[in-house]
Amino acid sequence: MCGIVGYIGSQNAVPILMEGLFRLEYRGYDSAGIAIISPAETRVFRRVGRVRELEASLPRRLTGKVGIGHTRWATHGPVTQANAHPQVSGDGRISVVHNGIIDNATELREGLQAKGETFGSETDTEVLAHLIARSAAPSLEDAVLDALAQIHGTYAIAIIDQRHPDRIVVARNGSPLIIGVGDREMFIASDLSALVRHTTSVVHLDDGELATVTATGFRTFSREEENTAKTPVSIDLDADDVDLAGHQHFMRKEILEQPASAERMLQGRLDERFGTARLDGLNLSPRDLRSFRRVKILGCGSAYYVGQIGAQLIEELARMPADAEPASEFRYRNPVIEPDTLYVAVSQSGETADTAFAVREVKRKGGQVVGLVNVVGSSIARECDGGIYLHAGPEIAVASTKALTHMAIGFAMLALVLGRVRDLSISDGQRIVAGLKALPGQIEQILADEPQIAEIAADLSAAESLFFIGRVRGFPVAREGAQKFKEVTYRHAEAYQASELKHGPLALIDKDLPTVAIVPDDELTDRNMGAIEQISARNGRVVLIANPGVPDCAADSRITVPKSARELDPILLVIPVQLMAYHAARTLGLDIDKPRNLAKSVTVE
Ligand code: F6R
Repeated sequence: MCGIVGYIGSQNAVPILMEGLFRLEYRGYDSAGIAIISPAETRVFRRVGRVRELEASLPRRLTGKVGIGHTRWATHGPVTQANAHPQVSGDGRISVVHNGIIDNATELREGLQAKGETFGSETDTEVLAHLIARSAAPSLEDAVLDALAQIHGTYAIAIIDQRHPDRIVVARNGSPLIIGVGDREMFIASDLSALVRHTTSVVHLDDGELATVTATGFRTFSREEENTAKTPVSIDLDADDVDLAGHQHFMRKEILEQPASAERMLQGRLDERFGTARLDGLNLSPRDLRSFRRVKILGCGSAYYVGQIGAQLIEELARMPADAEPASEFRYRNPVIEPDTLYVAVSQSGETADTAFAVREVKRKGGQVVGLVNVVGSSIARECDGGIYLHAGPEIAVASTKALTHMAIGFAMLALVLGRVRDLSISDGQRIVAGLKALPGQIEQILADEPQIAEIAADLSAAESLFFIGRVRGFPVAREGAQKFKEVTYRHAEAYQASELKHGPLALIDKDLPTVAIVPDDELTDRNMGAIEQISARNGRVVLIANPGVPDCAADSRITVPKSARELDPILLVIPVQLMAYHAARTLGLDIDKPRNLAKSVTVE
């Protein structure tokens, strides 16, 4: 969703801001803009559409040493040039870029209009620009504080002022904002990927914090105007991580990265001798771990589906009741928070508003919550009491792949730790550790079958509608398969428990509705075979994704996935559905990395 960049220093800000905006494209947006203070005036350029269209519209000789930029995902007001950011005050002096939503914007706008202000856009952000410009405070910082005192809502904002061209003032409340520290130059971004070419030394603002950023440094302070002590941290990110590196699409690049990234995630975390995992970041002693009686997993979309894989792993290995729920539902239903439940928030971005809100709700009611998060220093990571970083590296494609695999591996390690402080025997623990160790090599084996998977996917891409079915361990995989397929191909794909087909959906089966059946080699294989026979008897086409021991049965084609420890099978079964969705979308010639209507990180409600 919306992205922010900013620059102040001795270089020309324009190409730096534009490069930042290109890097933020993956988040999803509908318009973009920049504001530059050139010596005599502030110049603002906005365009509906792609960043390259904005770039093409800029005057050739545009220069300035300070500026801000934005990619907008429309919330208040339709997608128009006037509603794109930066938004400016009536006198053109103040320019603001904003991620988030100002809840009381309408009321403030009416008040300002009554005082004679006129508005050029329908955005909530323009209200902020007017409020800052109208403040009688002597400094930009005080004017911003004045304005913030009047608004309710969430924001990450960056502000420049024609009268104070030596600074950018930034503030954060509920939406991420990062300051990048350079040598006599400073950067602002809502997302690390926009900074990574310039610096690896960053400061994460906290909620309720503001900063004055000049070419030579920064000062952070609270809404109460007290200085806050912030030391830059070094980020472990390479520019290559956020580049295509010769690939046509980030989605495929990220799928192919999985053997190496999974290896990295497991490194140093497995304890073969005692058949357990080392998860120091959880900040939970064996005694703490033992004290929990239930586990509740909260995430959204695909993270929720992996949460279902996680809940099964915990039930199987730790024999604790565990379930997953969409954080987007949990947060709205006044949940009962139990003191002996371990809450687990799972999120790639660490910025998903629904999941972040659910975490706060748990904490507000005294619950204990740990995170499985990919982005280091993200909001959810920082709000949780402890957690497991996924170390998947940056994920740029909107459709999540490698981060989900890492979540599943993270859950397996958490289940192992919870199991080993209960009744999971050392030998069973060692069996799971051996299974985890083998995963990177086995993922490699699955990826080697890409040409065959691509062929099957090309065939499936012609179907208007598909079923993905699975049973128990296979069902969350089927859900993720349907999710990935619809996200990138825009085909209708639906997941069903194989056991539920006969209770209704079987009526839809005919030669035009193919089924992808996820069948691990486990105690339920025969039952799954029965479902496949039923589909086949009704002329339904079946693509089988199965372990080697599973017979072909009536399937029309088959993708074979190496066998793992039975509890870990879902982690491997999910890999072919990622490749399948990718290649089906490729056959259809779609914008795979930026599917329509979707954003990488859903930071609004
Ligand atoms: C699917 C997808 C989404 C995310 C969901 C949660 O490919 O990317 O369903 O899984 O929006 O996002 P995070 O994990 O960032 O909280």
